[in-house]
Amino acid sequence: MMRLPFIARGGAIADLAAALDGARRSRGGLVLITGEPGTGKTRLAEEVVARADGFRVFWTWCTPAGAGGALRPWSSLVRELAAADASMARAVQQSPHLAELVTAAANSDTTHADPETARWRLSLDLAGMLATSAASQPMLVVIDDLHEADPSSLQLLAEMAPSLRPWR
Ligand SMILES: Nc1ncnc2c1ncn2[C@@H]1O[C@H](COP(=O)(O)OP(=O)(O)OP(=O)(O)O)[C@@H](O)[C@H]1O
Ligand SMILES: [Mg+2]
Repeated sequence: MMRLPFIARGGAIADLAAALDGARRSRGGLVLITGEPGTGKTRLAEEVVARADGFRVFWTWCTPAGAGGALRPWSSLVRELAAADASMARAVQQSPHLAELVTAAANSDTTHADPETARWRLSLDLAGMLATSAASQPMLVVIDDLHEADPSSLQLLAEMAPSLRPWR
């Protein structure tokens, strides 16, 4: 399909550039891009990635009906982080919650006696891992097709969001 030059719409790209600038100055955050199907959410995210000079960029996405396992967007993010960096790989080895997350895609029916506590611990370990990564280099994580996310992935995102504030 022919790819047309990007047409900047309203202030969206400026808002997102401001969010990148904030992150460079240790003012991290969560930005939601919403819109009807085919209105340019993915394209806008691609344009932000193209402007994210100096950032370590991760692109992950949600799949329909939980394909790829529960928490797929997060497990793929942690797997990529661990593959990119030895200290991140160690963080995964040292956390049973992160270790389970990266293998969960192959074993998505893992059950916990107390799933709430397990997810909370996972969110703490994940926050620690992302904070360590963001301390060495500003970080941009794109989660595409969030409307397909499983409830646990959304809950994890909601739990993580407040801790992003002081990060790059
Ligand atoms: N601002 C824009 N300028 C030029 N082309 C655009 C723009 N926004 C979107 N497009 C083009 O329109 C098409 C649909 O955009 P895109 O895939 O980003 O939509 P989407 O909102 O992510 O769709 P979906 O809801 O299906 O995921 C793509 O070919 C994209 O390159
Ligand atoms: Mg899209």
